[in-house]
Amino acid sequence: MIQPHFFETPEKTALAVTQHLIDQLETMMRPFFLAVSGGSTPNLLFSMWGNEFADRIKWQRLHLFWVDERCVAPTDPKSNYGNMKMRCLDKIHIPVENIHRICGEAPPNLEAERYTLEVNNLLPLKQGIPQFDMILAGMGEDGHTSSIFPGQTSLLTEKQTYVVSKHPVTGQQRIAMTGPVMMQARELIFHVTGASKKALIKAMLHPTAEQLKLPAIYIAHHAKNAKLFCDIPIA
Ligand code: 6PG
Repeated sequence: MIQPHFFETPEKTALAVTQHLIDQLETMMRPFFLAVSGGSTPNLLFSMWGNEFADRIKWQRLHLFWVDERCVAPTDPKSNYGNMKMRCLDKIHIPVENIHRICGEAPPNLEAERYTLEVNNLLPLKQGIPQFDMILAGMGEDGHTSSIFPGQTSLLTEKQTYVVSKHPVTGQQRIAMTGPVMMQARELIFHVTGASKKALIKAMLHPTAEQLKLPAIYIAHHAKNAKLFCDIPIA
Protein backbone atom coordinates (compact mmCIF):
# COMPACT_ATOMS: atom_id res chain seq x y z
CA MET A 1 0.00 0.00 0.00
CA ILE A 2 1.51 3.34 -1.01
CA GLN A 3 2.03 5.85 1.80
CA PRO A 4 0.78 9.37 0.84
CA HIS A 5 2.39 12.62 1.99
CA PHE A 6 0.49 15.78 1.00
CA PHE A 7 1.95 19.28 0.87
CA GLU A 8 0.39 22.67 0.16
CA THR A 9 2.47 23.64 -2.87
CA PRO A 10 4.88 22.17 -5.45
CA GLU A 11 7.68 24.06 -3.67
CA LYS A 12 6.88 22.48 -0.30
CA THR A 13 6.61 19.10 -1.96
CA ALA A 14 10.04 19.47 -3.57
CA LEU A 15 11.43 20.65 -0.24
CA ALA A 16 10.01 17.59 1.52
CA VAL A 17 11.49 15.24 -1.10
CA THR A 18 14.85 16.95 -0.68
CA GLN A 19 14.80 16.81 3.10
CA HIS A 20 13.79 13.13 2.94
CA LEU A 21 16.75 12.39 0.65
CA ILE A 22 19.11 14.19 3.04
CA ASP A 23 17.70 12.21 5.98
CA GLN A 24 18.07 8.91 4.15
CA LEU A 25 21.63 9.76 3.06
CA GLU A 26 22.50 10.36 6.74
CA THR A 27 21.47 6.80 7.64
CA MET A 28 23.61 5.19 4.94
CA MET A 29 27.31 4.53 5.58
CA ARG A 30 27.95 3.07 2.13
CA PRO A 31 27.45 4.77 -1.26
CA PHE A 32 23.78 5.74 -1.78
CA PHE A 33 22.21 4.67 -5.09
CA LEU A 34 19.58 7.15 -6.31
CA ALA A 35 17.67 7.10 -9.62
CA VAL A 36 15.84 10.22 -10.80
CA SER A 37 13.16 10.70 -13.43
CA GLY A 38 12.74 13.31 -16.10
CA GLY A 39 9.78 15.33 -17.33
CA SER A 40 8.91 18.72 -15.85
CA THR A 41 7.93 17.86 -12.27
CA PRO A 42 11.52 17.45 -11.01
CA ASN A 43 12.63 20.79 -12.50
CA LEU A 44 11.85 22.57 -9.23
CA LEU A 45 13.68 19.85 -7.31
CA PHE A 46 16.79 19.97 -9.49
CA SER A 47 16.91 23.78 -9.30
CA MET A 48 16.73 23.56 -5.49
CA TRP A 49 19.52 20.99 -5.46
CA GLY A 50 21.65 23.21 -7.70
CA ASN A 51 21.10 26.34 -5.65
CA GLU A 52 20.04 26.47 -2.00
CA PHE A 53 20.90 22.80 -1.39
CA ALA A 54 24.10 22.70 -3.46
CA ASP A 55 26.24 22.43 -0.32
CA ARG A 56 23.67 20.67 1.90
CA ILE A 57 23.49 17.31 0.12
CA LYS A 58 26.41 14.92 0.56
CA TRP A 59 27.00 14.49 -3.21
CA GLN A 60 30.26 12.62 -2.73
CA ARG A 61 28.27 9.76 -1.12
CA LEU A 62 25.53 9.74 -3.75
CA HIS A 63 25.63 7.75 -7.00
CA LEU A 64 23.17 9.19 -9.50
CA PHE A 65 21.29 7.14 -12.09
CA TRP A 66 18.28 7.80 -14.32
CA VAL A 67 14.94 6.00 -14.35
CA ASP A 68 14.63 6.65 -18.05
CA GLU A 69 16.08 8.72 -20.87
CA ARG A 70 14.92 9.87 -24.24
CA CYS A 71 17.05 8.54 -27.13
CA VAL A 72 18.46 11.96 -27.95
CA ALA A 73 21.84 13.65 -27.49
CA PRO A 74 22.59 15.03 -24.01
CA THR A 75 22.53 18.52 -25.52
CA ASP A 76 18.98 18.03 -26.83
CA PRO A 77 16.38 20.04 -24.83
CA LYS A 78 14.42 16.77 -24.42
CA SER A 79 17.31 15.04 -22.65
CA ASN A 80 16.52 14.18 -19.01
CA TYR A 81 20.24 14.19 -18.23
CA GLY A 82 20.77 17.47 -20.08
CA ASN A 83 17.95 19.10 -18.15
CA MET A 84 19.37 18.02 -14.79
CA LYS A 85 22.89 19.01 -15.87
CA MET A 86 21.75 22.55 -16.63
CA ARG A 87 19.67 22.96 -13.45
CA CYS A 88 21.86 21.08 -10.99
CA LEU A 89 24.91 19.05 -12.04
CA ASP A 90 26.82 22.02 -13.43
CA LYS A 91 26.40 23.83 -10.09
CA ILE A 92 27.36 21.17 -7.55
CA HIS A 93 30.53 19.36 -6.52
CA ILE A 94 29.62 15.78 -7.36
CA PRO A 95 32.45 13.42 -8.40
CA VAL A 96 32.11 12.79 -12.15
CA GLU A 97 32.38 9.04 -11.50
CA ASN A 98 29.20 9.28 -9.40
CA ILE A 99 27.14 10.39 -12.40
CA HIS A 100 25.87 7.36 -14.32
CA ARG A 101 24.01 8.85 -17.25
CA ILE A 102 22.10 6.88 -19.86
CA CYS A 103 23.71 7.69 -23.23
CA GLY A 104 20.67 8.79 -25.21
CA GLU A 105 22.83 9.34 -28.25
CA ALA A 106 23.88 5.67 -28.44
CA PRO A 107 22.09 2.96 -30.45
CA PRO A 108 19.06 2.24 -28.20
CA ASN A 109 19.28 -1.53 -27.94
CA LEU A 110 23.02 -1.45 -27.26
CA GLU A 111 22.54 1.29 -24.63
CA ALA A 112 19.73 -0.57 -22.86
CA GLU A 113 22.08 -3.58 -22.57
CA ARG A 114 25.07 -1.47 -21.55
CA TYR A 115 23.15 0.43 -18.87
CA THR A 116 21.57 -2.79 -17.60
CA LEU A 117 25.07 -4.20 -17.06
CA GLU A 118 26.32 -0.99 -15.43
CA VAL A 119 23.44 -0.97 -12.92
CA ASN A 120 23.49 -4.73 -12.30
CA ASN A 121 27.24 -4.62 -11.61
CA LEU A 122 27.20 -1.60 -9.29
CA LEU A 123 24.08 -2.15 -7.18
CA PRO A 124 23.35 -4.84 -4.60
CA LEU A 125 21.12 -7.55 -6.05
CA LYS A 126 17.99 -8.70 -4.14
CA GLN A 127 16.42 -11.83 -5.60
CA GLY A 128 18.62 -11.17 -8.61
CA ILE A 129 17.18 -7.66 -9.09
CA PRO A 130 19.37 -4.55 -8.59
CA GLN A 131 18.10 -2.60 -5.58
CA PHE A 132 18.23 1.20 -5.60
CA ASP A 133 18.21 2.94 -2.23
CA MET A 134 15.79 5.51 -3.61
CA ILE A 135 13.97 5.93 -6.90
CA LEU A 136 12.24 9.22 -7.63
CA ALA A 137 9.47 8.42 -10.09
CA GLY A 138 7.00 10.67 -11.87
CA MET A 139 3.57 9.92 -13.26
CA GLY A 140 2.35 11.11 -16.60
CA GLU A 141 -1.23 12.23 -17.20
CA ASP A 142 -1.85 8.92 -18.96
CA GLY A 143 -0.69 6.97 -15.91
CA HIS A 144 2.75 6.08 -17.22
CA THR A 145 5.90 6.04 -15.14
CA SER A 146 9.50 5.60 -16.20
CA SER A 147 8.87 5.22 -19.93
CA ILE A 148 6.41 2.40 -19.39
CA PHE A 149 3.24 3.54 -21.11
CA PRO A 150 -0.30 2.15 -20.75
CA GLY A 151 -0.59 -1.13 -22.62
CA GLN A 152 3.15 -1.89 -22.41
CA THR A 153 2.28 -4.53 -19.81
CA SER A 154 5.27 -6.76 -20.51
CA LEU A 155 7.61 -4.03 -19.17
CA LEU A 156 5.94 -4.33 -15.76
CA THR A 157 7.40 -7.82 -15.34
CA GLU A 158 10.35 -7.64 -17.78
CA LYS A 159 13.48 -9.28 -16.36
CA GLN A 160 16.03 -7.01 -18.06
CA THR A 161 16.83 -3.99 -15.87
CA TYR A 162 16.52 -1.47 -18.73
CA VAL A 163 14.88 -1.91 -22.12
CA VAL A 164 14.03 0.18 -25.14
CA SER A 165 10.47 1.52 -25.12
CA LYS A 166 8.59 3.90 -27.38
CA HIS A 167 6.35 6.87 -26.65
CA PRO A 168 2.90 5.83 -28.00
CA VAL A 169 2.14 9.23 -29.54
CA THR A 170 5.45 10.63 -30.73
CA GLY A 171 7.12 7.28 -31.40
CA GLN A 172 10.20 8.62 -29.61
CA GLN A 173 12.44 5.79 -28.39
CA ARG A 174 13.32 5.72 -24.72
CA ILE A 175 15.64 3.71 -22.47
CA ALA A 176 13.40 2.67 -19.58
CA MET A 177 13.84 1.10 -16.17
CA THR A 178 11.49 -1.87 -15.98
CA GLY A 179 8.81 -2.62 -13.40
CA PRO A 180 10.56 -5.20 -11.19
CA VAL A 181 13.51 -2.86 -10.57
CA MET A 182 11.20 0.02 -9.61
CA MET A 183 9.23 -2.24 -7.28
CA GLN A 184 12.41 -3.63 -5.67
CA ALA A 185 13.68 -0.22 -4.51
CA ARG A 186 14.33 0.25 -0.80
CA GLU A 187 12.20 3.37 -1.30
CA LEU A 188 10.14 4.19 -4.39
CA ILE A 189 8.99 7.78 -4.15
CA PHE A 190 6.36 9.07 -6.58
CA HIS A 191 6.85 12.83 -6.83
CA VAL A 192 3.66 14.15 -8.42
CA THR A 193 2.37 17.72 -8.56
CA GLY A 194 -0.30 19.65 -10.44
CA ALA A 195 -4.09 19.74 -10.25
CA SER A 196 -4.31 17.91 -13.59
CA LYS A 197 -3.14 14.73 -11.82
CA LYS A 198 -5.66 14.87 -8.96
CA ALA A 199 -7.83 12.07 -10.38
CA LEU A 200 -4.75 9.91 -10.93
CA ILE A 201 -3.59 10.53 -7.37
CA LYS A 202 -6.99 9.38 -6.10
CA ALA A 203 -6.70 6.32 -8.33
CA MET A 204 -3.20 5.65 -7.05
CA LEU A 205 -4.50 5.58 -3.47
CA HIS A 206 -7.78 3.75 -4.15
CA PRO A 207 -7.55 2.07 -7.57
CA THR A 208 -10.23 0.16 -9.40
CA ALA A 209 -9.19 -3.09 -11.08
CA GLU A 210 -9.03 -1.20 -14.37
CA GLN A 211 -6.86 1.59 -12.94
CA LEU A 212 -4.47 -1.00 -11.50
CA LYS A 213 -3.51 -1.76 -15.09
CA LEU A 214 -1.95 1.71 -15.44
CA PRO A 215 1.85 1.36 -15.08
CA ALA A 216 2.32 3.98 -12.33
CA ILE A 217 -0.55 2.59 -10.27
CA TYR A 218 0.40 -1.04 -10.82
CA ILE A 219 3.98 -0.35 -9.75
CA ALA A 220 2.93 1.79 -6.78
CA HIS A 221 0.73 -1.04 -5.54
CA HIS A 222 3.18 -3.87 -6.03
CA ALA A 223 6.28 -2.07 -4.79
CA LYS A 224 8.13 -3.16 -1.67
CA ASN A 225 8.05 0.34 -0.18
CA ALA A 226 6.26 3.09 -2.12
CA LYS A 227 5.59 6.62 -0.95
CA LEU A 228 3.73 9.46 -2.66
CA PHE A 229 4.90 13.05 -2.21
CA CYS A 230 2.34 15.36 -3.81
CA ASP A 231 0.75 18.80 -3.60
CA ILE A 232 -2.73 17.68 -4.39
CA PRO A 233 -4.90 17.56 -1.25
CA ILE A 234 -7.80 15.23 -2.01
CA ALA A 235 -10.98 15.06 0.01
C1 6PG B 1 10.14 11.26 -18.79
C2 6PG B 1 9.88 10.89 -17.36
C3 6PG B 1 8.45 10.49 -17.20
C4 6PG B 1 7.85 11.54 -16.30
C5 6PG B 1 6.36 11.61 -16.46
C6 6PG B 1 5.80 12.84 -15.74
O1 6PG B 1 11.23 10.98 -19.29
O2 6PG B 1 9.23 11.91 -19.35
O3 6PG B 1 10.76 10.10 -16.76
O4 6PG B 1 8.23 9.23 -16.66
O5 6PG B 1 8.18 11.25 -14.96
O6 6PG B 1 6.08 11.74 -17.85
O7 6PG B 1 6.21 13.96 -16.46
P1 6PG B 1 5.86 15.44 -15.95
O8 6PG B 1 6.60 15.60 -14.67
O9 6PG B 1 6.37 16.33 -17.05
O10 6PG B 1 4.35 15.48 -15.78
